Amino acid sequence: MTILVTGGAGFIGTNFILGWNAAEDEAVVDLDLLTYAGHPGNFERLPRPERHLLVRGDLGDRELAADLLARHRVRAVLNFAAESHVDRSIYGPAEFIRTNVVGAFNLLEAVREYWAGLPAGERESFRFLQVSTDEVYGSLSLEDPAFTETTPYAPNSPYSASKAAADHLVRAYHHTYGLPTLTTNCSNNYGPFQFPEKLIPLVITNALEGKPLPIYGDGRQRRDWLYVSDHVAALRRVLAAGRPGETYNIGGGEEKANLEVVESLCALLDERRPRPDGLSYRSQITHVADRPGHDRRYAVNADKTQTELGWRPGHDFQSGLAATVEWYLAETDWLKSVRDGGYRDWIKKHYGDGDD
Ligand code: NAD
Ligand code: TYD
Repeated sequence: MTILVTGGAGFIGTNFILGWNAAEDEAVVDLDLLTYAGHPGNFERLPRPERHLLVRGDLGDRELAADLLARHRVRAVLNFAAESHVDRSIYGPAEFIRTNVVGAFNLLEAVREYWAGLPAGERESFRFLQVSTDEVYGSLSLEDPAFTETTPYAPNSPYSASKAAADHLVRAYHHTYGLPTLTTNCSNNYGPFQFPEKLIPLVITNALEGKPLPIYGDGRQRRDWLYVSDHVAALRRVLAAGRPGETYNIGGGEEKANLEVVESLCALLDERRPRPDGLSYRSQITHVADRPGHDRRYAVNADKTQTELGWRPGHDFQSGLAATVEWYLAETDWLKSVRDGGYRDWIKKHYGDGDD
């Protein structure tokens, strides 16, 4: 049988697929629109490329999804596909609604129809896994306890609102139709193949090019960081052993202020690739205007996933960050290939400087 992944050419999907392809005999069909965030060249690294099929298309193309589900006799769907960058959602929320909400809805409809027609045993073992974010829970104050699975949804950005809407649909499809769904709400990921518009790869690439390291506002906003392969391992546990209809929080328990993250990156780069003038990369840190509606703090309580499914993160923040810096230092060709004209336009629009 086969699993269908949407958005597999993006950051987390790529990490998921590379791991799955190496470890499992089961083939993956990847339905991906290949937006600016999707990089099919990543799949040149598949150890067993014959077990991977990339189909360029929209997750909301119901006919296409129906055809793929039936033709490949899919036993599970993992929905990674999304517009994922909060800053872009502030400039242009429409695309976030189109993909993250309407696209997810159409995918659910195609899946519901396919699932309803399966023989009883296959219907029971079928799974739909919605890959979601901790940002749906909104912002915490310093004193608040970390998000649990029962924390009420209170999304604050167009991105998190669109993810929340999709999560609600997934919940409703379980409750109303009995579709065996699973939802995961994960904290901020970092690691190989992350597009350099997100904080950690942006800082690494800007540092090496002598450009400002932009910190929004005071830089005291806090995020719970998780190394991407640990997220992937959790997804595999949830898919294998999660209970249908349940949601599972995933987080590294590594809460850091943004300024701390950027300073740790500077220290790692100072050691591994010292600036020719002997100054620390810290000298490039620049405070810029804050993001509108910027959430102050996210923190995830992953006890349920840990106790019920036996998952634990394998990397602490320091080891994960060091591995990430090593990866970006080595992967200059990958970086070159993804930083196309569209990327340069984004940097110019958002930060107001050139990227040459
Ligand atoms: P990403 O932006 O790197 O990749 C998104 C992928 O989806 C790309 O391959 C893109 O081409 C594809 N895509 C976009 N629109 C599509 C459409 N209409 N149809 C089909 N494919 C489409 O995102 P990511 O960081 O890998 O995140 C993957 C998922 O995990 C998202 O759903 C995101 O909300 C969730 N998530 C991300 C993080 C994080 O820190 N990155 C944390 C928690 C949850
Ligand atoms: P980001 O990687 O965009 O993830 P998210 O907004 O989903 O948490 O940003 C992580 C944090 O870093 C967030 O608090 C915003 C902040 N940030 C900056 O300070 N400067 C930047 O240039 C970027 C991209 C992010």
